[in-house]
Amino acid sequence: PSDAVIFSMIQPTGDFHLGNYLGANRVWKQLQDHKVPQQTCLFGVADLHAITVPKLDVVKFKQLRLQAIASILALGISPEKCTIFMQSKIPEHSQLNWLLETITSMGYLNRMTQWKSKSEGVDEDQVKLGLFAYPVLQAADILLYGSTHVPVGEDQTQHLELTRNIARRFNKMYKGRYLVEPQTIFTPTKKVLSLNNPTKKMSKSDADPLSRIYLTDAPESIQKKIKKCLTDSISDNFYYDPENRPGVSNLINIVSGIQGKSVEEVEKDIAHMKDYNTLKTYVSDIIIEDLTPVRIRYEQLIKDPAYLMDVATKGSLEKARPIAQGTIKRLMETMGF
Ligand code: ADP
Ligand code: NA
Repeated sequence: PSDAVIFSMIQPTGDFHLGNYLGANRVWKQLQDHKVPQQTCLFGVADLHAITVPKLDVVKFKQLRLQAIASILALGISPEKCTIFMQSKIPEHSQLNWLLETITSMGYLNRMTQWKSKSEGVDEDQVKLGLFAYPVLQAADILLYGSTHVPVGEDQTQHLELTRNIARRFNKMYKGRYLVEPQTIFTPTKKVLSLNNPTKKMSKSDADPLSRIYLTDAPESIQKKIKKCLTDSISDNFYYDPENRPGVSNLINIVSGIQGKSVEEVEKDIAHMKDYNTLKTYVSDIIIEDLTPVRIRYEQLIKDPAYLMDVATKGSLEKARPIAQGTIKRLMETMGF
């Protein structure tokens, strides 16, 4: 068997939230720590993806990129054990994106549910080509490093399928195994939902900050958000039923993710509770206990922007870029350039 290359990225579009954490970042740390021989881990800040949202303030954007690096380090991802990189420092991402766009079908991209939900109802002259095509850039990100395993949240399933489809198509066109088809590593936690609208996923891009808990939230803030979160009127019997009781099911899912317990185990733990106040206090205590060390490390790290930039630059230029350059060179030759 060939060497494992574990690859994942996160967008610097806002502070990391519980959805990112349970859906992805917590698993990055676990993968790093369960190192198998010959395993490479690459974790990146997807800043080129971040500009597919309406224009960000430039100063704020620089700060968000630093915050993303600080968050990755605060989670315990180590620059010694992993390659921590900044996408925009490696021009080969954009280069491979173009090469792959020339073999990706519009129809396939049009069927992506994320695209549908983000573009629905928006005037065609307002929605941008970059938003439509970003899954191709995502495929380029992954394929550039010969990634074998990609730990991401449920919401990325289709995009990983697209990535495999593009790799297969390229390999077929050029008759060889040039691109590796990556496997998705699904995190055990189901999609984390917005706290005040549990029909949507918890997201950085949600306009309402009360919809999410940040890794950097102070305990009082976590308590407040959980207290206010939308549940239902069945307040003496708590069980998991995502269809009919999305609010309470979301809380059970969050606890299950943090504690590494099954949903059934969490249901047993809360079976004796007879009111929402008790349940919500229980849930916020569990979140607070888990996130406090992350927040404390983050507060230290964010004070040292020079160090954070240095980690990102070294990881990008000394570790990630040489691999990326090798891939581009091979592919360009294969394509006849
Ligand atoms: P966001 O949607 O908040 O902008 P990103 O697009 O940067 O987050 O995604 C970073 C990672 O977090 C991805 O692996 C994604 O699957 C995961 N993720 C994002 N939101 C959630 C969620 N609500 N539940 C579970 N995982 C999520
Ligand atoms: Na997103």
